[in-house]
Amino acid sequence: MARVELNGISKSFGAHKVIGSVDLTIEHGEFIVLVGPSGCGKSTLLRLIAGLESVTSGRLEIDGQDMTTTPPVARGIGMVFQSYALYPHMTVAENMGFGMKIAGRPRREIAPRVAEVARLLQLDHLLDRKPKALSGGQRQRVAIGRTLVRNPPIFLFDEPLSNLDAALRGDMRVELAQLHARLGNTMIYVTHDQVEAMTLADRIVVMRDGNVEQVGTPLELFNHPANRFVAGFLGQPAMNFVSVQLADGAAVLPGGARQPLPGPAAATVELGIRPEDVRVSDTPADLALSVEVVEQLGDETIAHGRLADGQKFVARLGKQHPVRAGEVVHLTPDADRLAAFDATGRNLLAKALAAGV
Ligand SMILES: Nc1ncnc2c1ncn2[C@@H]1O[C@H](COP(=O)(O)OP(=O)(O)OP(=O)(O)O)[C@@H](O)[C@H]1O
Ligand SMILES: [Mg+2]
Repeated sequence: MARVELNGISKSFGAHKVIGSVDLTIEHGEFIVLVGPSGCGKSTLLRLIAGLESVTSGRLEIDGQDMTTTPPVARGIGMVFQSYALYPHMTVAENMGFGMKIAGRPRREIAPRVAEVARLLQLDHLLDRKPKALSGGQRQRVAIGRTLVRNPPIFLFDEPLSNLDAALRGDMRVELAQLHARLGNTMIYVTHDQVEAMTLADRIVVMRDGNVEQVGTPLELFNHPANRFVAGFLGQPAMNFVSVQLADGAAVLPGGARQPLPGPAAATVELGIRPEDVRVSDTPADLALSVEVVEQLGDETIAHGRLADGQKFVARLGKQHPVRAGEVVHLTPDADRLAAFDATGRNLLAKALAAGV
């Protein structure tokens, strides 16, 4: 079993506080993905869990045991870094078995274990090659395999696919999902890639400035972001934020249409409308978008432009929509999918999530 519990974990480098006070429980076998802007503390949090950095305050437990000051090797954790250095003079098999070798395991134990992991990662035909004779994706698999050979109950990944091209990333993403399904290890995974986060995670942790903004399943966070930061962080193109006045239980949209909005007591809010949550209509509708730039991606059309009062807006118009720059498209937002943010950034329409999230 490998349940990881962070209680009030903080970290400062000198006077610089980089992790605020993080409380997070990761269940055995869970695939947790950490996301957040560059510098928000994702790698630091992984390194604290691995024991490569010491915590400034707080308590780390693994399976109920205090591991706050336990040395890295005794934590049952394997880590795969973004810049994985393979030993260039060793073969794939030697690279993969090296961890076991320096741990003093006998050769008769190492060879079958390496063979088994190599089969799992489809590296079995490459065991005698040196790293320089491998593709990027193959090298990445060796780096993962090197950790896997030791079979740690907990896996930490720090942007393991970021050096790969888009096609390889896609392949490796699927392989990682299959690997997790087969092994059932606890995985904590850092990425900048939205698709990786949404598809791999059981739960996503959104971080900002060393703090956790929200934790939840990918769809919980996407559909019910607690605040403007989470709403804007997940989704590509990002959610639109449209400043509106409220009057008599409705938001007055740019152009004058009224959008019923139950609840909010504030005078002004920012409406959150995802680019895909609008319907195009033939007749003037709630929002008139003066289109400035059209991105034709083949499987979808993304129109960038401005609303009646000049606020920017992006709409995803579905497959190969014929709109052109300079035209006006009329849009109706899907009322069920709106978000509304007050001056503090809180989402006034977020549905209360299940307890504990
Ligand atoms: N050893 C260190 N000494 C001082 N400051 C550090 C150290 N390591 C990290 N930091 C600082 O801590 C903050 C968090 O860094 P961290 O590497 O955890 O961010 P990150 O979220 O992983 O960013 P990225 O997405 O760019 O990898 C940054 O401001 C960084 O400069
Ligand atoms: Mg990092």
